[in-house]
Amino acid sequence: LARGVREPDLAGRHVVVSAGGTREPLDPVRFLGNRSSGKQGYALARTAAARGARVTLVAANTHLPDPAGVDVVPVGTAVQMREAVLKAAADADAVVMAAAVADFRPSEYAAGKIKKKDGQEPEPLVLVRNPDILAEISADRARAGQVIVGFAAETDDVLANGRAKLARKGCDLLVVNEVGERKTFGSEENEAVVLGADGSETPVPYGPKEALAETVWDLVAERMS
Ligand code: CTP
Ligand code: CA
Repeated sequence: LARGVREPDLAGRHVVVSAGGTREPLDPVRFLGNRSSGKQGYALARTAAARGARVTLVAANTHLPDPAGVDVVPVGTAVQMREAVLKAAADADAVVMAAAVADFRPSEYAAGKIKKKDGQEPEPLVLVRNPDILAEISADRARAGQVIVGFAAETDDVLANGRAKLARKGCDLLVVNEVGERKTFGSEENEAVVLGADGSETPVPYGPKEALAETVWDLVAERMS
């Protein structure tokens, strides 16, 4: 094979990738959101398609062109993402949750724009928990042998936090990034360690998000039944 051309080792497989960041609306003009660009998820979708997979990309608030040959399902909120991921995961061989899912959403949605009132302090914002999609699909696998991958950005003891999160979520692989300058948000490059539920630890040096994506698919392919 020519350099850069991959064996179609994911041919006949259906993979689901989530990307971007959910937005949790407060009123018709405002939301709680995060800084995820969606680039890592799009790189995962592109590379899986190039390796022959049928790809469903559940994309939350990304502003990126649809990758060729990928089925893109746009969503806004965490609740919408849960619905789309569960539906696509029903017949999937692998699910990779690269999206930044908001942990909380406003308890109430104001149908009209929230207005200031003269001389009054604002009402406190009341939040409620969102569903944990990764934990849910890991605990209740749609099919035997389905491989499930999470992503986590951590600070402090990055590996210990990652190990604990992998166990808590019940997924097969967790891609752990250290949050810092030049890393993660909006950048073209990434550096990570991929932790396996089997105890494996695969470092991925600082480089393009495509390279991390290829490593993730290598590890997924090894684990697919
Ligand atoms: N995730 C999810 N549903 C949520 C929150 C997170 O599916 N409601 C997924 C993310 O897509 C990611 C993984 O879980 O793949 C880890 O996300 P992270 O925010 O690091 O995990 P949390 O359990 O929310 O932990 P923390 O309190 O550190 O934010
Ligand atoms: Ca979180």
